[in-house]
Parts: sequence; C-alpha cells; structure tokens
Amino acid sequence: MTGETIDLTTLAIPERDVAMELMTMRHVDACVGVAQALGIFTALGGGPIAADTIAQRASLDPEMVARLLLVLAAIDIVRRVDATRFALTADGAAYFDHQSPFSAASFFAIDDVSPSMHSLLDPADSGWSVTRDADKSIEDGWRDGDIDAQTARKFAETMHAYALAPALSIVRGGVFAKSRAVLDLGGGSGTLCAAIKAHQPETDVALFDMPVVCDVARDHLARFGCDGRVTRHPGHFFRTPWPAGADTHVFSHILHNWPIADVGRLLELSRQSLAPGGRIVVIEAFIDPDFSGPLRVLKLHLSMWAYFKAQQFTEQQLSDLLIAAGFEAPTLVHRFRDYGVMEAYRP
Ligand SMILES: C[S@@+](CC[C@H](N)C(=O)[O-])C[C@H]1O[C@@H](n2cnc3c(N)ncnc32)[C@H](O)[C@@H]1O
Repeated sequence: MTGETIDLTTLAIPERDVAMELMTMRHVDACVGVAQALGIFTALGGGPIAADTIAQRASLDPEMVARLLLVLAAIDIVRRVDATRFALTADGAAYFDHQSPFSAASFFAIDDVSPSMHSLLDPADSGWSVTRDADKSIEDGWRDGDIDAQTARKFAETMHAYALAPALSIVRGGVFAKSRAVLDLGGGSGTLCAAIKAHQPETDVALFDMPVVCDVARDHLARFGCDGRVTRHPGHFFRTPWPAGADTHVFSHILHNWPIADVGRLLELSRQSLAPGGRIVVIEAFIDPDFSGPLRVLKLHLSMWAYFKAQQFTEQQLSDLLIAAGFEAPTLVHRFRDYGVMEAYRP
C-alpha cells in the first residue's frame, strides 16, 4: 500500500474480475476432487439418482451433496434430470467413470490437490487461508463479535478486492443518489462507504462493524481520502443498538453469511430501526432462477453452506425474505456482473 490518496471518482473499473475467475477455478477443481473422494461419481454412474439418496447411502450431509451437484452441473459433467435427480453427462462419464478408458481419477485424487479441497470436506478442520492461523473460526468470531486483529485485516483486504468494482458500479449507477444518510451494516473495510462518500460528499455515510474491523476500516478509508468523513460505529449487529437516523440501510455481502433464521433477524432489526419510508439495500451475487448458474455463485452457495450453514439467494428468494420481514416493493435496481442490488421500503 502506498501513502498516496486514491480518487475513487476517476478510478476505471477493470473489464473482468480476473482474481475471482481464478479463485473460482481453484475451488471448482477442489469440488471435482471432493466429489470423487466422496464416491459421488460412482453413485451417479448407476444412472439418475437423487442427491438425498447419495447422501443417505454415504452418510453425507444432503444439503452439501445437493449444492456440490449443482456446481458439477454448472460445468456440464453432471446434468439435472429433474427437480431432485442428477446423472453424469456423456463427457462426465467418459472422464469420471473409473472403468472408462478416459478416466481422470488419478488426476483428481484428493491427496494431490490444494487444502481448499479438504476445507470443503471438513470445514471445521481447516477454513479459509485468511483464518487458518487464527485461534477460532471466522463464523465463531462473527457470532461472538470477536476476531483477532490480524484475521480482521486479512479478511477486510480480501473483501476489499472483491467489493471495489461492484461498489463503484453501484454508486455510479445512482443506487444511493436519493439517500440522505446511509448506514452500511457489516461495512468491513469501508469500500462501499468510501465509494459513496467520494461520489456524493453531501451524503452522511456510516459504517457499522465489529470494533477490530472498524480499526482496519480507518486505514482503508484514509487511503481513499475518506477518513474522518465516514462515521464508524463499532458494535455487534445482533447485540448492539443500531445508530438511528439513517434513511438507507445497506447489507453488502452480509446476508449470505448467516443461516436463514439469522437473515430474518437482521432484516427484522433493520425494519425496526428504519423510520417509515426508509429503504433497505441488499447487495448479493444472485443464483439464476433455475439454479443452473452462474458457476461462481453456485460455488459460493456451496462454500456458504460449508462454512456458515448459509446460502446465496435467487432474486425471488431474497424478495420473499424481505416481504416476510415486513418490507414493501422489493425491486432489483442495479446489476453488475453476477451481483445484483435489491431495494425495499419500510411501510
Ligand atoms: C462478507 S463481509 C462483507 C463486508 C462488506 N460489507 C463488503 O461488501 O465488502 C462480512 C462483514 O460482516 C461483519 N460482521 C460479521 N459479524 C458481525 C457482527 N456480529 N456484527 C457486526 N459486523 C459483523 C464482518 O466483520 C465483515 O466485515
């Protein structure tokens, strides 16, 4: 990191998210090895079979098997036969049936691949590389509202790389143009807050995150010339009262980290804290309505289950959750790559 302040209003958005593409390739490779190690290709070799049946026979978690199969279907080595059953495609059978002359079994043997594969097999045992040296898992840290400073810094830096391009596109797309005061729940490194403040200096912008993350955010905000111009609220979003006065609450890549009951609690807390007419803005990478893609998002959907018993959403699922929490008129207001922005209003 250089000491120079970066002007976000003139920063060009790269054409492609090369880092995310490479990360997805790495993880999808791990998924293939995991599927092989768990005997999923062998089970599929017998003809169409339900994810639940595979899970039951091998004493596996049915949700993990179902999500893993969706990833394999998105790369066309498996196909969905109907709502519950999957089969190998012809090409999938050629390379993943042990009897096939083309069998690539040794290529994907589990001992030859990266630790990320093992983390999918046993997430409790391994974890993301950003948290591998930490005393406790990131999910326990988030639930307790307590992670160590080094983990907070590494995670915020990773999220910053992930969030900067969508943040610029969303802000430049006018999503916050009508906001007077924005509260970014779980704002992390402050990427989105900095993007809003840089483009709309007249908007009040505040970041709410765990104390140790707020400290990390201070450095990131300074890098973009926003330190002192974005208010930082240290707290735990299930335990600390939320600051009042915002007309817009943002959840950027937050809801996908929590089991569905906690998602409901967060939405409920937001609705209670907003004044009538207040707006909630949710930024997530969405799954296609028929769960056929995008590959990256289906891979995330699997990882979110492995780490947090959480999920990515289809637009319909998120819309239903917002309505169930008492919000009105959920609408997708912006798209960028496979990210979407959904807003809804407190009646
Ligand atoms: C996946 S990151 C998203 C960060 C940021 N919103 C973005 O889009 O880059 C999740 C964020 O939620 C924060 N978080 C997790 N548990 C929290 C809690 N209990 N209270 C407040 N913030 C929390 C984390 O520190 C982290 O910054």
